[in-house]
Amino acid sequence: MSSDFSSPLLKALDDAVQRGRELGMEVNKREWEWLLEAATGTQRIQWILGTHEVLPTTWHADFKDLVQRRLLGEPVQYIIGLGAFYGRDFEVGPDVLIPRPETELLVEWAVSALKNRPNPKIIDLGTGSGCLAITLALELNSSRVSALDISTGALEVAGRNASRLGADVAFSKRDLLLEDVPAGPYDLVISNPPYIPLSEKATLQSEVVGYEPHVALFAGSDPLLFYRRIAAISRGMLSPSGLVCVEIHSDFGPDVCHLFENQHFSNVAVQKDLAGLDRFVTASVGVG
Ligand SMILES: C[S@@+](CC[C@H](N)C(=O)[O-])C[C@H]1O[C@@H](n2cnc3c(N)ncnc32)[C@H](O)[C@@H]1O
Repeated sequence: MSSDFSSPLLKALDDAVQRGRELGMEVNKREWEWLLEAATGTQRIQWILGTHEVLPTTWHADFKDLVQRRLLGEPVQYIIGLGAFYGRDFEVGPDVLIPRPETELLVEWAVSALKNRPNPKIIDLGTGSGCLAITLALELNSSRVSALDISTGALEVAGRNASRLGADVAFSKRDLLLEDVPAGPYDLVISNPPYIPLSEKATLQSEVVGYEPHVALFAGSDPLLFYRRIAAISRGMLSPSGLVCVEIHSDFGPDVCHLFENQHFSNVAVQKDLAGLDRFVTASVGVG
């Protein structure tokens, strides 16, 4: 982007980026552009064309506030209230995990596995913003999708996302570890459960541990806690051709596979992400 400051908006943006660099932040310029868009309601093209000769005082103050929050470490998605997932914007806030790009790989796998099945029935365990459930409902338009979470706040966000994006998803509040799940049989059980061991808390980026909900991140002292439960209950929830797809911590691929193998699942496999790390495990009830 040009740095001749014909536009006061570009100058404000460059000043903020510079400030971040001076404070030693890794600056992704696009993130700062989102803040400027959010504060001013203007788009990049208007900054470049220099449509505004003077930066209105309120815009400047609003932008400075947002920049200050970012400089203090708040993730840009929480500041603007939106996170991108599989080509759509999802409302996010302190009650929900920010959807991660690697979780999109689960959607790709599930869409490919289910695209030829009529009216596939799907359940998402631990739905958060609803990104998995809503995306699958929209990508597989004959699907019937339900989703649960223990967090009332997360379910409210997920419900708003479903309405705004036009997805039909039945949400319910359940404790996956203690309560029954809505009755199947399902063609797919999908989940990105909490999987970070508490012992890793000190090593996490402060942006994650300081802002994202701990109920979404941590699995207590047993990082396999949720997988033990999902492996134990999902066979009874699935149709004879049913599938499971669970996101995992990259250290625990073989352990999660063993849990599903012990429950007599077939085709149990670890799937890698684009960085070559173990990222999710898939399994099927039938051998085909
Ligand atoms: C890692 S987040 C995943 C959110 C979303 N599916 C995603 O991929 O971005 C895990 C979710 O599980 C929920 N959760 C944690 N403990 C739970 C429990 N015992 N029962 C049901 N949901 C739970 C959290 O509230 C959180 O929304």
